[in-house]
Amino acid sequence: MSKYAAGIIADLIRRKPDCVLGLATGSTPIGTYRELIRLHKEEGLDFSRVKTFNLDEYLGIGMDLSKPYHLDQSYARFMYEELFKHINIKLENTHIPDGLTKNPEEFCKAYEEEIKKAGGIDLQVLGIGGDGHWGFNEPGSPFTSRTRVEALTKQTIDDNYEAFYKAAGIPKEEMPHYAITMGIGTILEARSAIMLANGAKKADIVAKALEGPVTNEVTASAIQIYKGDITVILDKDAASKLKNL
Ligand code: PGA
Repeated sequence: MSKYAAGIIADLIRRKPDCVLGLATGSTPIGTYRELIRLHKEEGLDFSRVKTFNLDEYLGIGMDLSKPYHLDQSYARFMYEELFKHINIKLENTHIPDGLTKNPEEFCKAYEEEIKKAGGIDLQVLGIGGDGHWGFNEPGSPFTSRTRVEALTKQTIDDNYEAFYKAAGIPKEEMPHYAITMGIGTILEARSAIMLANGAKKADIVAKALEGPVTNEVTASAIQIYKGDITVILDKDAASKLKNL
């Protein structure tokens, strides 16, 4: 999965060295980022002109390099540790919503403007949350939504606690309950996308998103009205509930 996804990203970078990537965090894309790092180190994949925009960031936290990685759960730190510090991307070309912004509303508008100024996103990397979210677009987020502050569902808080905070020994009370996220409308404007999911835990939600009704109760079902090219990359477990394979 990771090799295939990284291959698609690498092809784009070779074809368009100044491309704009939309990036995601979470456990799923880590292998893809490792493969991109390998391609950079062993095959000279050049990120020097690549621009990136991340989907989301928790509200209220930001990268703090004075802390060890496991105690800094910001997505800015995740991207720095899992990808950026290992490749030749210019940090000024990377964009992640600022979880410490004093004025989230202004910030979100400016983030949308930055994406436009960069020429729009050429390739958006997506996962899928247990509740069907893309980015942090929780159930009920309109398909026309733009970058904004979103309240996290209990399921997202529980999932991310299990996957990240618990392992780091951070008490659940310290988990942020809000995030800044690109909207579904923002994501749907990307010219192409890849969506990754693995594991049996994702099987039901993957089937709902790909084969169920198009509904903002499962925001990733927006995939069915997406107009760009999208490649869905699943392992056997995540694909196991699909009827039309
Ligand atoms: P995960 O998260 O990769 O940690 O499963 C996916 C998501 O929430 O979009």
